[in-house]
Amino acid sequence: MKNRGGSKEAKRRAGRSAADQVEDGDVVGLGTGSTAAYAVERLAERVDAGLDVEGVPTSSATRRLAIQEGVPLTSLDVETPDLAIDGADAYTSDLDLVKGGGAAHTREKVVAEASESFLVVVDPSKEVEAFEAVPLEVLEHALPLVMETVEELGGETLPRKCDGKDGWVVSDDGNPVLDADFDRIDDPRELSRALDGVTGVVEHGLFVDMADEVHVGEDEGVTVLNR
Ligand code: A5P
Repeated sequence: MKNRGGSKEAKRRAGRSAADQVEDGDVVGLGTGSTAAYAVERLAERVDAGLDVEGVPTSSATRRLAIQEGVPLTSLDVETPDLAIDGADAYTSDLDLVKGGGAAHTREKVVAEASESFLVVVDPSKEVEAFEAVPLEVLEHALPLVMETVEELGGETLPRKCDGKDGWVVSDDGNPVLDADFDRIDDPRELSRALDGVTGVVEHGLFVDMADEVHVGEDEGVTVLNR
């Protein structure tokens, strides 16, 4: 689920720090969420100043933001991103992530996997010792099977709901999203592999061994953690 902590200034510093790593001519995966939005805004400033860049958005929300801000767009059909910049709902000292608080983790994982490097932008409220819950995008037809299988793995499955929509939250691709609460995830690699094998799960929100850098914004500066 979405972590609503962290100051705007910390998120802004993280987003700008990663966007400042982009080089002329780069293709950039554009993440989703409030922290990644600051990276898109910083890229737009740099485009105004003459930077040649194209973005690959990870959601319709980010696509709209990039168009509004003036960042030129492309797609995975025609380009391979040099880097992707995205937020996270939680990260550990191993630089593993949980993503999907905004139900965009499937497209985010596709873009991050396709990119040469993956820069994550967070504020310190996202740091955890161990993950607890994992978002799952699921084929509607497979919901009963997925819920039963995930419960056998030790997860309590909760349908994602939100104000302003009756029924389940669905992803940009129209698939329902649920949250699987495991209480405490001691081995995210093992769980990631297990969830990879659950028939009917389109994608899960564990991002293990994927982040190359985590830019942790604070009110006074940014710390960059490297793998
Ligand atoms: C979208 O589904 C998520 O993976 C976001 O990247 C994540 O929720 C981080 O968003 P914030 O920067 O708004 O916390």
